[in-house]
Amino acid sequence: MSLARFLDLADLSPEEIRDLLALADRLQQHPEPQALAGKILGLIFLNPSLRTLASMQAGMARLGGSSFVITPGHGTWALETRTGVAMDGAAAEHVREGLPVLASYCDVMGIRAFAEGHDLANDVADTHFKSMAALIKKPLINLESAINHPCQALADWKTLDDLHIAPRTKFVLSWVPHPRALPLAVPAATAHMAALRGHEVVVLRPDGFALPDAVIDRARAAARLSGGSITETDDRDSALKGAHVVYAKEWGSTRHYGDAEADASLRRSLTNWQLTEQTFAQATPHCKLMHCLPVRRNVAIAESLLDGPRSVVLQEAHNRLVVQMAILYRLLK
Ligand code: CP
Repeated sequence: MSLARFLDLADLSPEEIRDLLALADRLQQHPEPQALAGKILGLIFLNPSLRTLASMQAGMARLGGSSFVITPGHGTWALETRTGVAMDGAAAEHVREGLPVLASYCDVMGIRAFAEGHDLANDVADTHFKSMAALIKKPLINLESAINHPCQALADWKTLDDLHIAPRTKFVLSWVPHPRALPLAVPAATAHMAALRGHEVVVLRPDGFALPDAVIDRARAAARLSGGSITETDDRDSALKGAHVVYAKEWGSTRHYGDAEADASLRRSLTNWQLTEQTFAQATPHCKLMHCLPVRRNVAIAESLLDGPRSVVLQEAHNRLVVQMAILYRLLK
C-alpha cells in the first residue's frame, strides 16, 4: 500500500488508516534505519511549532533520510501568500515561485499554515492551505492547516489503541480557556477522528463556541460509517458523566470569529471552564485526559490533572513521531 499525499484523514479508507497504524507499530518494534536513505524531506513552517517540527525531522532521520526546514522571514525571504497583491511590503518572494523551488529540492514536503482567523467560511474551506498544496506536485503532508491536523489525529488514534480504549465509549471534546482565540484545526480533526473510530463523541463548549456546521456534518458522516455518534452541548455535568476520554482543547468563538475584542470579552467570563480535579471527577474513574499540547497550566487544565496518572498527553506527543514515520514510509517507499 502506498500514499500519494497525507492531507486529511478523511481521504484515507479504513484499511489505509489501519495499515498506517500497523506500520507505525511495526516500525516502533522493528526499526528500519536505512528505509529512506537518500530521501529528503522539506518542511515549511509558516507558524511556530515544537512537536511537529522536531518529530518530523527526528522521524525522517530515524528512517535514514534527511530534512531541511524553512521558516519564512526568519533567515530566509519572507513569503507572500496572497494573490493579486503588489509586493511592496516585507515579503520578497511569492509562494508561487518559492514553494515549487523548494519542492524541486526534496522528495516529500510538509507545510504548516494556520488559519488566517478573519473569515470563518474561508478557513473552514481550508482555502489558504489548498492554494499552496496546488503549487506542489510532490508527496505532501499537512502539518496543520486552518481546519485540519491529520498527523495529530492519527497519533491520537494510536494513543487510544495503545490504551485499549474501546470504540463504543464516550469521548468528550471539551473546550477549555486560553488567553486568546486559537484555531479550529485540532477540535475539527479530533471530532472527526473520534467519530471515525466509532466513539460516542460529545462536543462540550460554552455558548458562542459551537463548532461550524460543516465540521459537525463531516464528523457525523464519519460516525455514520463507524457506528459512532456526535452531539454538542454546553452542559458540563451531563457531558462529563460517564466519559472514558476527555480531550481538552482551546478554540476561538465561532460567533465572534475574526473579532478579537468580542471574543476576548466573551472568554473573560469563562475562566471557570478550566478542567480541574473537581470537574474531572464526574467522568469514569479511569477516564483519560488528552490534549495535543502546548497547554497552559492552570489556565486550560489544572496542574494536578496534567501531572496525574490519568493524563496521557506525553504519550500522544510521542506518538506523533511514531505515526509520522509510517506516513513518510508510505509516501516514499
Ligand atoms: N500538537 C502540535 O502540533 O504541537 P506543535 O504546535 O508544537 O507542533
